[in-house]
Amino acid sequence: MGRLICISNRIPSGPNPSGGLVVALHDTIKETGGIWIGTSGEIVENPENRLREINDGPFRRMAFDLSEAEQQNYYFGFSNQVLWPLFHGRTDLLEIHAEYLDGYKEVNRRFAKMLMEVIRPDDRIWVHDYHLIPLALYLRQLGATNRMGFFLHTPFPNPITLEALPNAGDVCEWLANYEVVGMQSERDARAAIACLTEVAEGREMAGGFVQLGARQCRIAAFPIAIDAQEFRSLAEAQVDRLPSGVIKPERQLIIGVDRLDYTKGVPQRFKAFGEFLARHDNWHRHVSYIQISPPTREGVEAYDNIREETEHLSGWVNGQYADIQWAPIRFINRPVPRETLAGLYRAAQIALVTPLMDGMNLVAKEFVAAQNPEDPGVLILSQFAGAAEQMEDALIVNPHDIEQMATAIMTALAMPLQDRRRRHEALMDVLLSKDVAWWSKGFLTALG
Ligand code: ADP
Ligand code: G6P
Repeated sequence: MGRLICISNRIPSGPNPSGGLVVALHDTIKETGGIWIGTSGEIVENPENRLREINDGPFRRMAFDLSEAEQQNYYFGFSNQVLWPLFHGRTDLLEIHAEYLDGYKEVNRRFAKMLMEVIRPDDRIWVHDYHLIPLALYLRQLGATNRMGFFLHTPFPNPITLEALPNAGDVCEWLANYEVVGMQSERDARAAIACLTEVAEGREMAGGFVQLGARQCRIAAFPIAIDAQEFRSLAEAQVDRLPSGVIKPERQLIIGVDRLDYTKGVPQRFKAFGEFLARHDNWHRHVSYIQISPPTREGVEAYDNIREETEHLSGWVNGQYADIQWAPIRFINRPVPRETLAGLYRAAQIALVTPLMDGMNLVAKEFVAAQNPEDPGVLILSQFAGAAEQMEDALIVNPHDIEQMATAIMTALAMPLQDRRRRHEALMDVLLSKDVAWWSKGFLTALG
């Protein structure tokens, strides 16, 4: 049996990985074994054209360096100022430049050549995320005959949105070079099939198969997950270990945890919390909201703007309502250790997981797994997170509707114990039966 080769732009480094892809794959590779290959995170003047072993982790990893120009065009450019906003429906943020696309293709071609030195014909290749969509095409052009699967961690747009990209047809052709294309949700699988048939004139067949030119691929939903059992134990172990002063018995705690990304809807959340405080004087000093948001993709204008906007809004809410004993919002712009996160989730009565658009959203799953089943907190979840397809027993909200979110905060704070337990139990059933092992097994079985 060949090896499993997992490929993604980012591979884990440092003690506190934040970002769904690294967190989920970490759990998968720990279980299934395999090699994880990606960029090293180092920018050098003349990158070598070879993959080097990284020796300090729990499993085998290989990496290559990027040049400054590659980082600008491939990573910050086409990946994060074209595909990321496009796939999240933010066509207003698109920065379309020929050098971004050229850089993106070039890095993918260079990566494919380096991989040809390492892969064996019976290895299964599993490529992850939007940075590397063309990799299968380039590997096949170099003669690779392996079975190749692709999993997209973000949403996938509908045809009219994809067509905002001048080379929309290329994206469809790139995808068609995989045997299996995995999406996070049925919503995204349907959108991808619609794009391959409407934008690129592919032919849909039974079972999610699409014929495009000489290639046939299967597109299906494989909702990503967490190791719920392990996360629950991690959270249990944190009871009474949070730093003193974080939790106050007389105060309810609301938590939000997201990279500081414009897709996550943090400004709308701050506004909704402000609206809640405006409506309910009696809750002043009895509830605080901790939002933990490490900066991400700094230097890209849309990310600099979201930072300014959220700083301004949290300052505004605090300015309006804080007193000498209480700050309504604590806005923390750094990653925190995973066990501290787990402890905070468990200590919180509410999680606000309200992205404007999200592939899955693992924070929603982590929060539920961390709860004490005897006295669980309430998950307020956006209808636009892929997680909403599986987690119907959360309080589902429209993140654009500030008033509805403010009402949901009140509903969650007032929810009777019996109702909280029932919802938590139903959600936990989903998380335990569809965990990260179920996800990877499902995908790899489909890949064959
Ligand atoms: P995305 O993939 O868009 O970042 P997800 O919610 O799917 O969003 O995954 C985010 C992952 O990163 C989760 O596992 C979460 O615990 C982790 N994470 C997010 N923010 C932080 C933080 N401040 N510190 C540590 N981990 C974080
Ligand atoms: C999302 C993407 C991942 C990415 C992560 C962190 O989860 O789907 O591909 O790794 O965000 O973003 P970054 O740009 O820091 O890798």
